[in-house]
Amino acid sequence: MSDIILGIESSCDDTSAAVIKDGWLLSNVIASQDVHKAYGGVVPELASRAHELNIVPVVSEALSRAGVSASELSATAFTRGPGLLGSLLVGTSFAKALGISLGIPTVMVNHLQGHLLADFVKQPGKEVVQPSFPYLCLLVSGGNSQIVKVNSPLEYEILGQTIDDAVGEAFDKCSKMLGLGYPGGPVIDRLAKLGDPERFKFAKPHIPGLDYSFSGIKTSLLYFVRDEIAKDPDFMEKNKEDICASFQKTLIDILMDKLVKAAKQTGIREITIGGGVSANSGLRARMLAEGEKRGWKVYLPEFKFTTDNAAMIAIAGWYHYLAGERASLDVAPVSRMADF
Ligand code: KG4
Repeated sequence: MSDIILGIESSCDDTSAAVIKDGWLLSNVIASQDVHKAYGGVVPELASRAHELNIVPVVSEALSRAGVSASELSATAFTRGPGLLGSLLVGTSFAKALGISLGIPTVMVNHLQGHLLADFVKQPGKEVVQPSFPYLCLLVSGGNSQIVKVNSPLEYEILGQTIDDAVGEAFDKCSKMLGLGYPGGPVIDRLAKLGDPERFKFAKPHIPGLDYSFSGIKTSLLYFVRDEIAKDPDFMEKNKEDICASFQKTLIDILMDKLVKAAKQTGIREITIGGGVSANSGLRARMLAEGEKRGWKVYLPEFKFTTDNAAMIAIAGWYHYLAGERASLDVAPVSRMADF
């Protein structure tokens, strides 16, 4: 008999539901929340209210696009965390309530594990290309920057992680500081394509081992722009493409230095990336170039799987379901990774 899993993702500002049948994606619906743009960042209270409005239509649409009725589902899978508590609460409560009403089990998923396993979502009509275990995943998003060794679908080790800001935060905060808007990653990515990445130099952190730090580069950029604007008030406007290109290159250098080190230390050459920042065109190009140079097999996620989506929650949920794991009714969402 087939396993049909309904995945539900609501960790931040995207309400998403997806249906997966034996690992094959039947539907993946995402409702994004534009309400936060006016505030230059996600407003938690507004996010949870928008999830409440979106969750029923998004789940209905996912079932309808999949051609699956609720009674055919084998299990519901939900993101337990990390993320915004109010947002997570909506998906968690909905998945559990639907599970009870249908008399089917519910499984919980760590959002980051979803990103780690995004390459395992099989899509009808598309070639199946999946990394072999163990592989390294550079997990880069608005809340995390980690190098993870994935030993099997449910077994992974964090080899290194940021000790302060996430790289996505560095993109977002610096974009805000430069007056370029939110979210910063896509804007900086677009402007960087037009600029010279070698024009300006920003200080890189010296952190031991495989950990990252991205808070210093913010300060470095802030002082640099402040000093240049003091000399020429139009400096920013005249040079924004070069600033973005140089800033982005520095972030990519920092990420890649540690990834190369991790690959050398572990001897692993199967490399994937995941999370919102994996949409960055400079990072994707660099991953491929580095892979070519070092004999890595690099797996880049499709753009639709780089941001928060329920397809990755459904696939991770399926593995938990196959392993016989079940979430009890008293499972509550958690905001931090450390609470898992
Ligand atoms: O995984 P994600 O959707 O969710 C959170 O972690 O909340 O990641 C969002 C992050 C944001 O910081 C955003 O600026 C960044 O991903 N991002 C990008 C790009 N697209 C999104 N960063 C760099 N380049 C991009 N093209």
